[in-house]
Amino acid sequence: FCKQGSKVVRQVREESDQGKFRQRFWELSGSKMGNIMGVNKKTDNDKKDDDVSDDEFDHKASNQYGQALKKQKTEAQSEFAKTRSIKQQRESLPVYQVRSDLIDLLREHNVLVCVGETGSGKTTQLTQYLHEAGYSVNGQIGCTQPRRVAAVSVAKRVADEMGCELGTKVGYSIRFEDCTSESTIIKYMTDGVLLRETLFEPDLDRYCAVIMDEAHERSLNTDVLFGVLRSVVGRRHDFKLIITSATMDAEKFARFFGNVPVFNIPGRTFPVDTLYARTTAQDYVDAAVQQAIAIHVGQDSGDVLIFMTGQEDIEATCVLLADRIAQVGEEVPPVTILPIYSQLPSDLQAKIFESSDKRKIIVATNIAETSLTVDGIKYVIDTGYCKLKIYNPKMGMDSLQVTPISQANANQRRGRAGRTGPGACWRLYTESAYVSEMLTMTIPEIQRTNLANVVLLLKSMGIKDLLSFGFMDPPPQDTILNSLFQLWMLGALDNLGDITKLGNKMAQFPLDPPLSKMLIVGEEIGCSSEIMSIVSMLSVPSIFFRPKDRADESDAAREKFFVPESDHLTFLNVYQQWGHNGYSAKWCGDHFVHQKSLKKVREVRGQLEEIMQQQHLQINSIGTDWDQVRKAICAGYFHNASKLRGIGEYVNLRSRIPANLHPTSSLYGLGYTPDYVVYHEVMYTVKEYMQTVTAVDPYWLAELGPMFFSVKESSSDFHAKERQEQEERRKMEYEQKLRDDLERQAKQEE
Ligand code: CDP
Ligand code: MG
Repeated sequence: FCKQGSKVVRQVREESDQGKFRQRFWELSGSKMGNIMGVNKKTDNDKKDDDVSDDEFDHKASNQYGQALKKQKTEAQSEFAKTRSIKQQRESLPVYQVRSDLIDLLREHNVLVCVGETGSGKTTQLTQYLHEAGYSVNGQIGCTQPRRVAAVSVAKRVADEMGCELGTKVGYSIRFEDCTSESTIIKYMTDGVLLRETLFEPDLDRYCAVIMDEAHERSLNTDVLFGVLRSVVGRRHDFKLIITSATMDAEKFARFFGNVPVFNIPGRTFPVDTLYARTTAQDYVDAAVQQAIAIHVGQDSGDVLIFMTGQEDIEATCVLLADRIAQVGEEVPPVTILPIYSQLPSDLQAKIFESSDKRKIIVATNIAETSLTVDGIKYVIDTGYCKLKIYNPKMGMDSLQVTPISQANANQRRGRAGRTGPGACWRLYTESAYVSEMLTMTIPEIQRTNLANVVLLLKSMGIKDLLSFGFMDPPPQDTILNSLFQLWMLGALDNLGDITKLGNKMAQFPLDPPLSKMLIVGEEIGCSSEIMSIVSMLSVPSIFFRPKDRADESDAAREKFFVPESDHLTFLNVYQQWGHNGYSAKWCGDHFVHQKSLKKVREVRGQLEEIMQQQHLQINSIGTDWDQVRKAICAGYFHNASKLRGIGEYVNLRSRIPANLHPTSSLYGLGYTPDYVVYHEVMYTVKEYMQTVTAVDPYWLAELGPMFFSVKESSSDFHAKERQEQEERRKMEYEQKLRDDLERQAKQEE
């Protein structure tokens, strides 16, 4: 399965890389796009996979949104009916039956593990129960989510249920977006946000209770929070902690917190037929589409949920599905195709919850496994894959990889079909693959990703010996050492592994360590304002858009922004020009730039500015001396340095792995290929492409990254060794030639 699996993935990836896949997407998208709600047109910019919508799409979205609002208004006219129905809905959830038992148990115990099927009401109800039981008098009730989407959507739902506006009594907080106020009692947030809060408030005094939701997901931040919260519980006796999970890990969690009780919410699930593929599908997108059509044509009413890997596959599936259904002919009843993934704009995410008189086919990432519950799903199609962040020690960085799921995932996915009645689940892989080739559980993120961020945070909390930190499943020692090395290399840790002044400053920013280093060095050099803009631009998925019918025009518009020596500076240029034009929406439209993205950039920048001020760091501008800006970039990214080897072809200076300029880079576009560059990240397809590249002076590399690079005094050559070898070879050849000449001469004289 794994082997076959990777072949499929490769095939899809290769196709994608050669542009065929994308082309297919473009071709199919055109007129069909109107049939599909929420399918984004891709820009041809491969830079980031997670795209945002273009204008035409926004317009459509806002229309749909407008209609939804209208609908809401009519509903509001019978406010009484609405509140009654919300009350009824709440009371029909399985958790409601055990509400008082749960509250009683919580009076006796400060920590509880709460287990319940997805959809039983854990996420939306537990916070409200705690509030209703009076806990909120002593502080806020926090609820953590591993995913941003879930935090936002659930907060909206609970605000609705409590009949208040989002951001008042009920709010949410995710990185760079705080939608809470003084009056907030129930706060949904990502686990990363709560982890950061422990940095400033180690005992979490503002909270009376925290619910760690979706603990079975074992996200990196949740795993670290486990350790941190265990000590908070030890210190604070007026603090309640509830850990919620799908069944699997519950006992383990309970043991970790000192054998605390496990509370079971009795499930109400219906049988689900499991159907396996006879052979594993070669192309899971195609296989899923075929299966969905077979269901639509041959099965009773009921919605379909397809589990895909990520945005690109989801979009391809939606387009292909719409196309094939159209091909089948008019006798087939219409369907509503709905994608859902984390980067989808939130108003479109909300669509999956709206009722529809047509059959809904939802195409989702594993976000729909447990984080989001959609009622009415009767059929599940499981491709057997998901995207996981995996650390690649050779490259020294994380990358998202399409990976076979675990049995636990597969069973969760299947369970989605049996919530409201009996259902069926089609697995696009064989039964033997499920039994013998899938792992029982997914490896926790902490054991497979880069930990530099977390290590820096723990160090700044004063935890010196990371190996003895209370991890539930400790990360591999090598990974910790690797992260320590990265932080030392950036100057955040000293030779003894203790946090430095620079490291402490870096830890204050919710950014990857290289980015925060770049910002702090930027301030020292006098260009923090410019670096803040660049860092903020890097935080959004995509800046430029490229509508199919105006591809050339939009390419030309993008090229006008190009700064020949740097993609980072190109971003800065875009942001500054937008600012000079009064941050106008029209300007964005005229220049093929996503207005939504730039608005987000501005918000993020504002937040960075606040942190700078809190940390008494200066906000300074260097005007047009952008060489200094490049130097600050180099200070954060010297470890990602490459040297020119051929046209557009570079080789990584440390790993010696070839790396290429991406065709969308400003450096590529203008045919200017500097000898040395640093890059933000690498994207893998058939080739390795450097993403967001900046030309650097080799002397900076030696100055800023002395542990890797040096300049040989005599020859002033950066690659002294190579040069020396060359010289020696030349010398030997020369001596040999001399010897030959002398010999020849001697022979002639004889
Ligand atoms: O957390 P758990 O999976 O146990 O359930 P939940 O997320 O609290 O969901 C309980 C109910 O609320 C489900 O029936 C959902 O359909 C509904 N819900 C909703 O309508 N809109 C949301 N944004 C979230 C939940
Ligand atoms: Mg939940």
